[in-house]
Amino acid sequence: MPGLAIVGTQWGDEGKGKITDLLARDASAIVRFQGGNNAGHTIVRDGEEFKFHLIPSGILHEDKYCVIGNGVVVDPKILLEEIEGLRKAGISVSNLRVSSNAHLIMPYHILLDTAGELKLGKLSIGTTRRGIGPSYADKALRLGIRVQDLLDEKILRKKIMAALDDKQQALRELAVRRRKLQREGEADDEVPIDDRLDLHSITEDYLNYGHRLEPYIADTARLCWSELDAGNKVIFEGAQAALLDLDHGTYPFVTSSNPIAGAACVGAGVGPTDIEQVWGVVKAYTTRVGAGPFPTELDDEAGRHMSERGHEFGTTTGRPRRCGWLDLVALRYAVRLNGTTALAMTKLDVLAGLESIKVAVRYRSKAGAVLNEFPYHQSILHNATPEYVELAGFGDEISDCRKEEDLPPAAREYLTFVSDFVGVPIALVGVGPGREQVIWTSAAV
Ligand code: IMP
Repeated sequence: MPGLAIVGTQWGDEGKGKITDLLARDASAIVRFQGGNNAGHTIVRDGEEFKFHLIPSGILHEDKYCVIGNGVVVDPKILLEEIEGLRKAGISVSNLRVSSNAHLIMPYHILLDTAGELKLGKLSIGTTRRGIGPSYADKALRLGIRVQDLLDEKILRKKIMAALDDKQQALRELAVRRRKLQREGEADDEVPIDDRLDLHSITEDYLNYGHRLEPYIADTARLCWSELDAGNKVIFEGAQAALLDLDHGTYPFVTSSNPIAGAACVGAGVGPTDIEQVWGVVKAYTTRVGAGPFPTELDDEAGRHMSERGHEFGTTTGRPRRCGWLDLVALRYAVRLNGTTALAMTKLDVLAGLESIKVAVRYRSKAGAVLNEFPYHQSILHNATPEYVELAGFGDEISDCRKEEDLPPAAREYLTFVSDFVGVPIALVGVGPGREQVIWTSAAV
């Protein structure tokens, strides 16, 4: 029975959480395979809003395993806060499992993330400052600390000592810099800085987290194998998206993991043949948080319409998202990169009320060349101008539509244009934030 991956096809915030929540109905496990608490999912169920950063969206299904795979970087403090929040809301977390091989985000990773951003100044990537990049960097340097290390005091202390050793200089620089900023009245207080990183107190804190997380720590790859081998459906839930992919996205303005479907194998411990379907989630327009190229970005009425109607503010950082038209050049690239078998388009309702809707179908380079494909050279992308096809807008509200036939003709034409262009059917359309505000199209299987 199939593994099914759900991935973002733009720069994140496509609404993957809601799609996961819907597609998980007949699954037995939902597995996150990369990223950390830089992600943010909002799910509205029975009028109640749930926000998650680390825990997979599937947690609301109490009868399914909800798995944090080995490819995720885990901030144990945040994880415990989310567990506590769910418990308070009366939601059981007994089905949660955390891979013993997942790497941890340590306090110094958060400081180093901030240090890196401050150092880059205007050239900063605009990270979420959650310590994601530094944690993955330590993983690659083999200085990382894993979830399983929380259960062995001696090892934990030794590993923290080794990891801290080469960071002291960078942290001292950060402290000096912050003090200077503070003197100039420009302190950036987004992340509380404690430059007295103390081996003993970090070890104590992390041992305590380990003690509380122990019931959830497991061999999650084996769990996936038993579910798949028993013929059960397993969902691999991506965070962030293709254009933020460390290898294939708009480097260096990317995250430090691989959000594409292929990474589900590495980040969960399954084989490529375990994944039969790949659902790409695409917002009806484009948004991006943080810095980096964004060819179809708007600074006009249409952009403000998207921002306001779409409530485009980051779930994790609260930052306003940059908004723009749907970029079909980038979408076709992401669709291919992921081996996408179906698309779910979210937030179509946000476009209602616009006189016309544009979609980018090619770029023009600075030198005037026509670019039909996503350019492989970053400098070309930075200077690319999109060329649009203008489609009819639809004035009517569509949030109550539940069937394709209920949609205004212009909205249906929009869906057809997009799926024809990228060569993949749109199987699901979101017309509002609620769980029931969706249309399963005739392409849905
Ligand atoms: P990091 O993942 O915190 O290192 O940030 C790297 C880049 O990815 C920044 O541009 C972030 O804004 C972006 N990013 C990280 N997570 C998300 C997400 O869940 N949605 C949208 N953008 C994200």
